[in-house]
Amino acid sequence: MNKLSHVAIIMDGNGRWAKLKNLPRKEGHKEGANSVEAVVQTALKEGISVLSLYAFSTENWARPKTEVTYLMQLLADTLSKFTEDKYKDVKLVFSGRRLGLPKKILTKLDEVIKATAGNKKLILNLCLNYGARQEITDAVNKILAQGKTKITEGDIEKNLYQNLPAPDLIIRTSGEERLSNFLLWQAAYSEFYFTKTLWPDFKEKDFLKALLAYSKRERRFGNRG
Ligand code: IPE
Ligand code: IPE
Ligand code: MG
Repeated sequence: MNKLSHVAIIMDGNGRWAKLKNLPRKEGHKEGANSVEAVVQTALKEGISVLSLYAFSTENWARPKTEVTYLMQLLADTLSKFTEDKYKDVKLVFSGRRLGLPKKILTKLDEVIKATAGNKKLILNLCLNYGARQEITDAVNKILAQGKTKITEGDIEKNLYQNLPAPDLIIRTSGEERLSNFLLWQAAYSEFYFTKTLWPDFKEKDFLKALLAYSKRERRFGNRG
């Protein structure tokens, strides 16, 4: 049986979901937020310890201003939900650059991180204003600021945004098969699962299907002769 501690998801396809239904893109994002709720509850049920969700990339700022504004509001609303009773076992942590995020989001983030810090079952790692190249660059700069002149892999590991086990499984929805600047360092030995299902349609059934596919994978870590 493969170990399954950490699942990371690239939540993609909201815009295409809306387009297929002749709806504005924001409707896709709105239904996508419901999928977030569904996968968090499924992760809890399945005993997963860490769930990383790619919610907004450092490149996503280049989208139209109205879409960015809508996404930020939706994120604030979604964050508020994490203090509700059904998330009492979920601890929220943040991966990304604070610089560039609206003050409203930062305040909300800090509030929810503090309120959920004692929760034990599932760590929800929200990747927001996140880019993996930026994460590695930020780590290197933190190490240099400590006065080090020679850097080990361990130094980089310790200075990433969060000190979490590497993802065992990375899921991307919507049929795209790329990382789009997600977890470049941490993905070294992750298993990948790509599905054509668009994020707003990705609920418990699809998540369980991905977990089943993962359970059948043979992980090698380079150590099989
Ligand atoms: C994912 O859906 C949400 C974010 C990247 C914020 P998209 O908005 O990328 O949807 P598509 O890829 O255009 O369908
Ligand atoms: C990746 O999706 C980022 C998130 C899911 C937050 P994008 O839709 O931004 O990625 P590309 O542009 O298709 O590579
Ligand atoms: Mg997309």
